[in-house]
Amino acid sequence: MKILVTGGTGYIGSHTVVELLNEGHDVVIIDNLSNSDRKVVDRIENITGLRPVFYEADILDKAALDKIFDEEKIEAVIHFAGLKAVGESVEKPLLYYENNISGTINLLKSMNEHSCKNIIFSSSATVYGTPAFVPITEECPKGTCTNPYGWTKSMIEQIMMDQCIADKEWNAVLLRYFNPIGAHESGTIGENPNGIPNNLMPYVTQVAVGRLKELGVFGNDYDTHDGTGVRDYIHVVDLALGHVKALKKLVKGSGLSIYNLGTGQGYSVLDIVKNFEEATGVKIPYVIKPRRAGDIDTCYADSSKAEKELGWKAQRGIKEMCADSWRWQKNNPNGYDE
Ligand code: NAD
Ligand code: UD1
Repeated sequence: MKILVTGGTGYIGSHTVVELLNEGHDVVIIDNLSNSDRKVVDRIENITGLRPVFYEADILDKAALDKIFDEEKIEAVIHFAGLKAVGESVEKPLLYYENNISGTINLLKSMNEHSCKNIIFSSSATVYGTPAFVPITEECPKGTCTNPYGWTKSMIEQIMMDQCIADKEWNAVLLRYFNPIGAHESGTIGENPNGIPNNLMPYVTQVAVGRLKELGVFGNDYDTHDGTGVRDYIHVVDLALGHVKALKKLVKGSGLSIYNLGTGQGYSVLDIVKNFEEATGVKIPYVIKPRRAGDIDTCYADSSKAEKELGWKAQRGIKEMCADSWRWQKNNPNGYDE
């Protein structure tokens, strides 16, 4: 299939492009490089021996999107492009609503006009808010998001649901990711956050490489086995493979489907520190800090629906996730900056 990957030079997008090329798909990337680097295209080529077509363009630019759809015969879109920094979204809500929602509407309109009506969307477990129950199934009601970033995911899901109801030719798969970490085993592509990382694993790897002094553990009084927050960490390559499997749902008459992509296994912050140290031999100094606003005790997935309907199951364990995150960080201490 010929697939347009928006945000394809980003963290999850780049790993998905690798797996799509490995499966024999043709890939066209659009990315404005606001949170990624064009070197990623070379690295994807080094890994796969195949070079995806790359357009440096913004999904807010409808004319640019139309041109790509005119030039390439796109059969399906995997839509990763978006801003994702939770704290920044609280400070700059209009930027987030415009980029993520207006950008998605432009994309859907351009797709509609070019009769390409198959899309996979990067949603998030954040749409469950404080989950009504764990493990979280897709039946768990959507909740109140604690920040504008989360609301953009929830709203885009609704937009896609409404479009699938309005036009039965549309097929959409909403993938709700849990906590992606890890990197390709080559150690040449990986997560490259701007500034000080907000998320746990990039913070841990930057402590390990000496860029940061110590990890702050946000709260040790949660209702969990050791008091620190529990999450469902999933290897980014397993997540990428979930997208390859989800493509088969994009067939006539499927309409809208929703899947959780997680491992079903929860690890606390201190479990991550311990596993990272065991997997890499590098010590992670940490201090306990107050809770971070908006954090919940426990969040992990029931992904049995994806297993049953897509034939997908996460294969990579926590040690492999830690070792692969570390290989990427160690080989690229400053990310894609030389
Ligand atoms: P990322 O920032 O590495 O990738 C997003 C890419 O989109 C970047 O390369 C960026 O340059 C590009 N982009 C942003 N706005 C754009 C625009 N207007 N036009 C064109 N390109 C644009 O993030 P990621 O971690 O790879 O996340 C990919 C998607 O998955 C995002 O939609 C994110 O919200 C979602 N998601 C991520 C996580 C996570 O923990 N990483 C969890 C759940 C959902
Ligand atoms: C966060 C976002 C979520 C987003 C996801 C992926 C919040 C409240 N939630 O999820 O909306 O979809 O990232 O981008 O920001 N931790 C520390 N020290 C750190 C960093 C994190 O102790 O320096 C802890 C957190 O308190 C949490 C766990 O590690 O218990 C995981 O945190 P993080 O990686 O930020 O992911 P989430 O909070 O699950």
